Formats: sequence, structure tokens, C-alpha cells
Amino acid sequence: GKPWTVPMLADAKREGRKLVMLTAYDSGFARVMDDNGVDLVLVGDSLGMVVQGHDSTLPVTVDDVAYHVQCVKRGLRRALLIADLPFGADATPERALDASLKLLQAGAAMVKLEGADHKLDVIRFLVSREIPVCAHLGLTPQSVLRLGGYKVQGREDAAAKKIREDAFEVAEAGATLLVLECVPSVLAAAITVAGTIPTIGIGAGAACDGQVLVLHDLLGANTGHRRPKFVKDFLAEGGSIAGAVKAYADAVRSGAFPDAAHAYE
Ligand code: KIV
Ligand code: NA
Repeated sequence: GKPWTVPMLADAKREGRKLVMLTAYDSGFARVMDDNGVDLVLVGDSLGMVVQGHDSTLPVTVDDVAYHVQCVKRGLRRALLIADLPFGADATPERALDASLKLLQAGAAMVKLEGADHKLDVIRFLVSREIPVCAHLGLTPQSVLRLGGYKVQGREDAAAKKIREDAFEVAEAGATLLVLECVPSVLAAAITVAGTIPTIGIGAGAACDGQVLVLHDLLGANTGHRRPKFVKDFLAEGGSIAGAVKAYADAVRSGAFPDAAHAYE
């Protein structure tokens, strides 16, 4: 296929083609993903946990993300590269612009940031300066201190309504993609159907326009403190790293993943 561009994401949603996304942190894995059906590669600030060994994403810096973006970029020929703005880097529009320029100059085509509220101004500021933005709602791991842990969000009516409103507002502000993490499947489905921008789910059910998993979770290589329900070890099924990536991509495209056992009702 052709290399992915940002406008192609909206085409995929309109045409009902599922988007396959994984996180990567280095060039070798990035190439395996690019060769085996992955459309979007995310250098997530999950690198703080799975690469650096911290117990949250809070210690990750812009320079850390930029380094991994450079590594991953060299492995990609076709997939679109998205980079996380780490904790604090999007605290103000100006800080977010400086960080985003670094990440785009390192090779990313889009930045991702968590939340809505005051982040709506950040999204508008970045988009007006030609920086494509992916929003991230539901469980936002950079909120771990306020939340007191990693748990499903949007189970109560008021919380679900807030996430639905935030989803509308991040799109209004100019985001072109929306990650929904750890929310009930019905909520993610409602947002996906009502919204104009593609949704990418992680623990958000099969109705989303695409899915994302953390590479280490896909391969069963986590350190134990973070093995949520939505994680599936595709290495057993795929037989090799390339096979695991391909099994995941195929399962997302066919709608086989996630099933009810890997989602929240
Ligand atoms: O940092 C990350 O890997 C992410 C994904 C889980 C969406 O934000
Ligand atoms: Na992240």
C-alpha cells in the first residue's frame, strides 16, 4: 500500500476500514510492524514503564520521546508515526508547540496529548500551527496521581457524559484522531458512531474505528504490574514476533479483536 498520510485517516473511517496501531520504541520492531499490516505506530510515553521501568509515565521527557521517535522513524516506510507529548510538555500552548516541533523534526507526523478542558486551547494552538493532533480520553495515565490508579473510566452516567462531551470538543478543536482508553464498550461505540474523527480503542471494545496495544503487552513481555483485562498475548497464536504482529493486525481488521473477554461492559 501507499504510505499513510493524515487525510487518509478520515477516508478509512468513512469507508469502514479498521485502523491498526501499535506502540514501538525502536527501529527493528518498527520495521516488523511496517511489514506486517500496522498502519499507525505510536511512540507512547508508555516507554517510561515498558522501556525505562518506571511505575508511571510521569518521568518521561520530551528528549526521551524524541530519541525513540528518531529510532522508530528509521524503521518505517509506510506507517504513520505518532509521538506522545509527555507529562507537562502540553501544560501550556507554548510549551506544547516547542515540544511538538521537536517531535515532528525527529520524524513524527502527529502528536498525541491526553485530556480536554484546558487542553482544548493547546489542541487549537497546535493545529493552527500545522501540527496534526491525536487526542486521548478515558483512562489518561498522566492523571494517575489524581485518579489514584489505573481503572476503567466512564462507568457512571455523569462520567460517561463528560467523556462524550470531551470527545465532541477535541474534534471541534481540530484533533484528527482520538484514542479511547479503558472505557465501557457501549460508550466508545456511541462516541465512534456520533463522531467525525476516527477512534482508536485500547480496552474500549470492538466498535472503535481502530485498535492500539502496547508492544510489550502484545508479546507478553510486561513486568507484571500492568496486565489489564484488554491485553492479549498474540505471540502464542502468531508463533513469532512478525506472526504476532500479523495476527493482531488481521484480528483487528476482521473485528475478531477485541472480543468481550478483552473489553469492559
Ligand atoms: O503511551 C502509550 O503507549 C499510549 C497508548 C497506550 C495509547 O498512550
Ligand atoms: Na501515552
